[in-house]
Amino acid sequence: MSGPATQYPNYSPGLEGVPAGITSISKIDSDRSSLQYRGYDVHDLAEFGSYEETAYLLLHKKLPTASELAEFKQLLGSERDVPAEIYSVLAAMPKTADSMDTLRTAFSVLAPFDPDYKASPTDHDANIRKAIRIVAKASTLVGNGHRIRQGLNLITPNPEHTAAENFLHLMTGQEPDPATVKTMDASLTLYAEHGFNASTFACRVTVSTLSDLYSGIVAGISTLRGPLHGGANEEAMRMILEIGTPENAEPWLRDALANKKKIMGFGHREYKKGDSRSFYMSKVAKELGVKKGITIYGEIADVLEKIMADEKGIYPNVDFPTAYGYYLLGIPIELYTPIFAMARVAGYSAHAIEQIDGNRLIRPKAIYDGDTNLTYVPIADR
Ligand SMILES: CC(C)(COP(=O)(O)OP(=O)(O)OC[C@H]1O[C@@H](n2cnc3c(N)ncnc32)[C@H](O)[C@@H]1OP(=O)(O)O)[C@@H](O)C(=O)NCCC(=O)NCCS
Repeated sequence: MSGPATQYPNYSPGLEGVPAGITSISKIDSDRSSLQYRGYDVHDLAEFGSYEETAYLLLHKKLPTASELAEFKQLLGSERDVPAEIYSVLAAMPKTADSMDTLRTAFSVLAPFDPDYKASPTDHDANIRKAIRIVAKASTLVGNGHRIRQGLNLITPNPEHTAAENFLHLMTGQEPDPATVKTMDASLTLYAEHGFNASTFACRVTVSTLSDLYSGIVAGISTLRGPLHGGANEEAMRMILEIGTPENAEPWLRDALANKKKIMGFGHREYKKGDSRSFYMSKVAKELGVKKGITIYGEIADVLEKIMADEKGIYPNVDFPTAYGYYLLGIPIELYTPIFAMARVAGYSAHAIEQIDGNRLIRPKAIYDGDTNLTYVPIADR
């Protein structure tokens, strides 16, 4: 009954290449492998700016002045803490809960605690206030969510800390060093936004029904969890550890390709000539390895990257170098996807607000490919 997809003109499986909306938040240039947030190259934002500056840009559509940024950081700092009830719910979850399930649940429980909970879903100013709270609390929820799963005491966020500092402080219980903060901050900037990827699109679909911003965030986080999307950074690191040595990289890869395995952290729907963000993170992660005297992961990466490019024409995406960069920073693997989410809530929020401000319900058409006009047979006669 089901026919090949090609028999339907104008149908693109997975909506590949189908324009599904108009945005002024970010621009992906597949041919140039470049990514811009509201007109600014992400490399400049990662190198010279900060995640906070990026979040301001995404939400307020312009780069902040020094005093606007200082005020924004102060506001984020004052919103970092979360109500104790959130922690009670997270503590009631099994310790074996997936870290993305913890984060998704945390945002769900957080929604009714927001002072603007009862505001109209179309109230732009209330949505900006909610977005700032969501961005502020994300690093606390990831950091203290981890502590709860580990059976550790909770830490009250330091309002002076940035998102990168707050997460690292909560994860380790110690004041983070500036070099680690810089690497983390750059990765958050690169993860902050990426057009109509699956999770952002899920977020936009959700709010297009005039559901609320938190529901959009929960939909986004739920969609990010899978290994074909945000979950790839964790899978990529597990793969690198399984490979183990640079010498084993080539035979491992050839065997995997022969068995039609997907190589995690490689390939991208939008970038066919390489993911702009991976160029930056590769450099950062490889330099980090040299600085720490642990170059093995960078060497494994070199082998995989060369064979994949030469023989398959497939390049690493941002998740690949970020995975071993985070590993070198001592971050537990199960936190990689939540870190991605904690950065991406800025992009989700900007998209949700853009969608709501010019809303049209997202409701595509399905091509029906099944039986029609059958005669109903009473159950006793079947
Ligand atoms: C990201 C991804 C889903 C994009 O996929 P897509 O645009 O749907 O492209 P497809 O999966 O159709 O891949 C096209 C071809 O490249 C191959 N390919 C794509 N990514 C591959 C990978 N990571 N490893 C091996 N082969 C890959 C596919 O097998 C397919 O080959 P075929 O035409 O011979 O069947 C895909 O590259 C992937 O699964 N990557 C691994 C997961 C990952 O890193 N996700 C994070 C994305 S940021």
